[in-house]
Amino acid sequence: MAIKDLRDKIVVVTGAASGIGRATALAFAREGATIVAADLHEGALDPVSKEIEALGVACMAYAVDVADEAAMKVFAEAVGERFGAPHVVINNAGIGYLGLFLESDLEHWQRILRVNVMGVVHGCYFFLPMMIAAGGPRNLLNVSSSAGNFPSPSMGAYAASKGAVSIWTEGLKMELTDSNVHISTVCPGVINTPIVRGALGVAPSVPDSTLEKMREYYQKEGCEPGVVAADMVKAVKKDRDIVLTGPKAALVYQVRRLSLKLIRAVTIDFSRKAGYL
Ligand SMILES: NC(=O)c1ccc[n+]([C@@H]2O[C@H](COP(=O)([O-])OP(=O)(O)OC[C@H]3O[C@@H](n4cnc5c(N)ncnc54)[C@H](O)[C@@H]3O)[C@@H](O)[C@H]2O)c1
Repeated sequence: MAIKDLRDKIVVVTGAASGIGRATALAFAREGATIVAADLHEGALDPVSKEIEALGVACMAYAVDVADEAAMKVFAEAVGERFGAPHVVINNAGIGYLGLFLESDLEHWQRILRVNVMGVVHGCYFFLPMMIAAGGPRNLLNVSSSAGNFPSPSMGAYAASKGAVSIWTEGLKMELTDSNVHISTVCPGVINTPIVRGALGVAPSVPDSTLEKMREYYQKEGCEPGVVAADMVKAVKKDRDIVLTGPKAALVYQVRRLSLKLIRAVTIDFSRKAGYL
C-alpha cells in the first residue's frame, strides 16, 4: 500500500550528507516527513540537518558506516527507540571506482562490496523486522544504478555491486510479497554529484586527464540529484517497483533488453572516447 501523505512519517536516508542522499532527505522533509539522516561523519551532516530543520521538520543526524554490521544494528535500534519503526528506509550510501580490472588491486573489490552491497544488506536486515512488526504501509528503497543493468569498462566492481543490489532486491521483494513493506529498486543514470570527486577510488594507471574528462562529463551530462529525489518521493507515493531516473537510465534499460550486441558496441565506443578502455 502506497504512502500518499508523508507528513510526520519517519524517513531514514543513508549517505544523506551529499548528492542524491542529501537531495532526497530534503525532498522528503519538504513533504513534512521527519528525517533520520545518516552518513559517515556527523559534522558532514550539519548543513543538511540545518536545512531540514529550517523547513520546520525534525532531523536526527547519525554517524554510521553502513558497511559495519554492529554499528548498523545499533543505528537501527537507536532509530526504533526514538521514533518507532520507520515508514521509509532509503539505502543510498555508496561509493564509486574507476580502473581496469587487471590494473587494479583487489582491495577495491572488497571495499566496494562492503559498502555498496553489505551496506544495503545491513539497512534491510536491521530495519525490516521492526517495519514488518509495526504493520501499516512501509517502503524500502535500495539505490542501485544504471550500471546494475549494464556495466562500463573500468567500473566492473561498481557494476557488480549494483547488479547484486538490483537482483537481490528483486528476490527480497518476492520474499516480502505478502508483507506490508513495498520494495523499490532505484536505478539512477548520470547524476551530477561529488561521487566522481573526493571519495572515488581510482586505479594508479588512470591518468588525471581521464578523471578530469569524467568529471566534466558528469557536470555537463548529469542531471541534478533533485531529479532522483523527486522520483523517490513519487515511488513511495505510487509504490513503484523499478525507478529508472535521470539521463540514460531508461535508455540503457530498454536497449539492454532489445540488443546486447548493440549496447555493448555503444558502450565500447563511448568508453574508448572517455579513456575508460
Ligand atoms: N551520481 C551518479 O551518477 C549515480 C548514478 C547511479 C547510482 N548512484 C548511486 O547513488 C548513491 C548516492 O551517490 P551520490 O552520487 O549521491 O554520491 P555522493 O558521493 O555525492 O554521496 C554518497 C554519500 O554516501 C556517504 N557514504 C559513503 N560511504 C559510506 C559508508 N560506508 N557509510 C555511510 N555513508 C557513506 C558519503 O559520505 C556521501 O555523503 C550511491 O549508492 C551511488 O552508487 C549515483
